[in-house]
Amino acid sequence: MSAGGLLAGMMSDPRASVLKRVFVVGAGIMGSGIAAQCALAGYPVTLEDVTEELARRGLANATRALDHAVERKKVGAGERDAALPRIDIAIGLRRADSAQIIVEAAPEDLGLKRRLFAELEEAAAPTSLLASNTSSLPITAIGEELKDPGRLVGIHFFNPVLQMPLVELIPGHRTRPEILAGARAFAESLGKTIVTSRDTPGFVTTRALAVLVNEAAWMLYEGVATKEDIDAAYKLGFHHPMGPFELIDLVGIDTAVAILDVLWDGFRDSRYRACPLLRTMVSAKKLGRKTGEGFYVYPKPAGGAR
Ligand SMILES: NC(=O)c1ccc[n+]([C@@H]2O[C@H](COP(=O)([O-])OP(=O)(O)OC[C@H]3O[C@@H](n4cnc5c(N)ncnc54)[C@H](O)[C@@H]3O)[C@@H](O)[C@H]2O)c1
Repeated sequence: MSAGGLLAGMMSDPRASVLKRVFVVGAGIMGSGIAAQCALAGYPVTLEDVTEELARRGLANATRALDHAVERKKVGAGERDAALPRIDIAIGLRRADSAQIIVEAAPEDLGLKRRLFAELEEAAAPTSLLASNTSSLPITAIGEELKDPGRLVGIHFFNPVLQMPLVELIPGHRTRPEILAGARAFAESLGKTIVTSRDTPGFVTTRALAVLVNEAAWMLYEGVATKEDIDAAYKLGFHHPMGPFELIDLVGIDTAVAILDVLWDGFRDSRYRACPLLRTMVSAKKLGRKTGEGFYVYPKPAGGAR
């Protein structure tokens, strides 16, 4: 069956979602959340990373995310118990061959994502949909060296995946319409609301957010105010649910710097010049919640999750 036929089938058959397998590349902050979300919607999911330890940590984080959703009464305990056994783990891309939907959530590095999709093109079934969860890299650039760039699309989830209702869809310049339609059907089957962006660095959401958090970092760097006061100003002055430093700790400071560099490379506009303080924190490995310390210090979670 062609990719178009397969995806058309997926859209027309409401039971089809439970039959598709999702393969998630990269079991970090986003990969673990995407795996939890897909399992909750009934998809069997394989969560993959480069080592067993990393894949297991991703599974522990997916479990924690589902537990947290039960505590918040957003998900029933029975739904969580049904979802968890749907997730298994893998090391390396070999098992991508049994998936119909592949979502890449590896670090924000163009070279790495290009290599991964080149390997996925060999490892995965030719009918499977290839998606990147990149938050800033143009999809067309990621797919530049693929034999069939038409099957690649951007599906940008938000963090924490189970709590955030939005998905940004990004068709690359060569993405086929049926692939975009399949990505839309997949995101809708997860209960997400969709916005579509043209394929430009940072799309809509990341471009807006990058400036907001970078400006906060520059204000801290210049001694305009403390991080606590800047966070309070954004929250109480603008009704933001989190301050910019709380948010950047959640996103990961390394990811935030990588995103600013993509915007800088794409536009050559000083609006996107990463504050040196952010780079210093990356060098110091203070990456935010994922390393236990960023702008704030976080208690270590129990059970090996980060
Ligand atoms: N953190 C956020 O808030 C956020 C939000 C939306 C989108 N994104 C995007 O999602 C992607 C992942 O970000 P993240 O925050 O989850 O990063 P992360 O650093 O938490 O996780 C990345 C994972 O990928 C793994 N990895 C590295 N090389 C790999 C390879 N060759 N094969 C398989 N796995 C590999 C790492 O071991 C790690 O577990 C990035 O493109 C990022 O821009 C991040």
